Amino acid sequence: MKILIINGPNLNLLGKREPSIYGSLTFEEFFVSLKKKYAAVELHYFQSNIEGEIIDKLHEVGFTYNGIILNAGAYTHTSIAIGDAIKGIETPVIEVHISNVYSREEFRHISYIAPNAKGIIAGFGLQSYELALESFL
Ligand code: DQA
Repeated sequence: MKILIINGPNLNLLGKREPSIYGSLTFEEFFVSLKKKYAAVELHYFQSNIEGEIIDKLHEVGFTYNGIILNAGAYTHTSIAIGDAIKGIETPVIEVHISNVYSREEFRHISYIAPNAKGIIAGFGLQSYELALESFL
């Protein structure tokens, strides 16, 4: 089972960025514990602040991996191109968010990922990623 987690813009700052919303753990710390817990899964991680790099990564793994867990950050609410990329690949994508985007500003209620995703998990902190992983298993 090959799963890739993709984090989009500003998520490299997890641990430092608005900790009251996103928590104080870095994603790298969380990823180490996730890999330990799910040692039987071939789990990979990619982060980029650049829209085109996220699209390139979706194309690269989207015909061979079993699942993609995608937190596209603010691109969720703006990127028709990432939505189209998900439409164009075969690997199912689960949209995740650390925060409950539906309890925040209205511009966060729009998602160009959701119509093309297998499902959405939002609002459970970093556990959102683990719940998405569980659903692929
Ligand atoms: C986020 C929610 C987005 O609205 C925001 O732009 C992010 C993080 C989340 O994980 O809660 O960067 O995707």
